[in-house]
Amino acid sequence: MFVRPADTADEKLLWSMLYEASYAHENGMDSPDQLRDVPTLAHYVEGWGAAGDLGVVGGFDGVPVGAAWLRLFGPDDPAYGFVDADTPELAIGVAPECRGTGLGTALMSALLDTARDRYDAVSLSVRLENPARRLYQRLGFVDVEGSDKVNLAGTTSVTMVLRFR
Ligand SMILES: CC(C)(COP(=O)(O)OP(=O)(O)OC[C@H]1O[C@@H](n2cnc3c(N)ncnc32)[C@H](O)[C@@H]1OP(=O)(O)O)[C@@H](O)C(=O)NCCC(=O)NCCS
Repeated sequence: MFVRPADTADEKLLWSMLYEASYAHENGMDSPDQLRDVPTLAHYVEGWGAAGDLGVVGGFDGVPVGAAWLRLFGPDDPAYGFVDADTPELAIGVAPECRGTGLGTALMSALLDTARDRYDAVSLSVRLENPARRLYQRLGFVDVEGSDKVNLAGTTSVTMVLRFR
């Protein structure tokens, strides 16, 4: 297994991982390219490498199959887990055939280790029924009170935040 910093050349991988993270197939999408036409999802990746962006990619035997990344959003263009303009939002995805291997944990740990030097906190949005909530809770994320909202799938998502200080 390897984990390394994400650079601008990794944008295509990030679109693929956004497809996984957003469960885009449930909304009838069959390709990451279709995310580009959905502004509320595209803004997680579009123009990857902007100031404030921070990410890691990882995989096996030199082949990247997962990524975790952070991006700042403003109140005029908030993402699903928006807390404030100083708190970047985290997204993560691992290719379906590689889940449960510890890669997601390794990606989160590496990203958060770097993020703590740059930011006071990190947020994310997750469905209540997503088993990934256990991973986030293990790493110190807690639910933001009153953040429950109905997501695109018609189930409930909640915002979680990890405060470094
Ligand atoms: C969440 C995800 C990135 C974790 O990556 P991973 O490589 O499977 O992670 P790990 O093997 O380190 O396992 C960590 C946790 O991920 C979750 N997980 C593991 N396998 C999973 C799977 N097949 N599907 C969904 N979540 C899974 C579990 O919560 C697990 O912790 P647990 O063993 O205590 O239950 C990955 O499962 C994934 O891409 N899921 C679909 C997309 C998604 O939900 N993204 C997050 C949106 S907020």
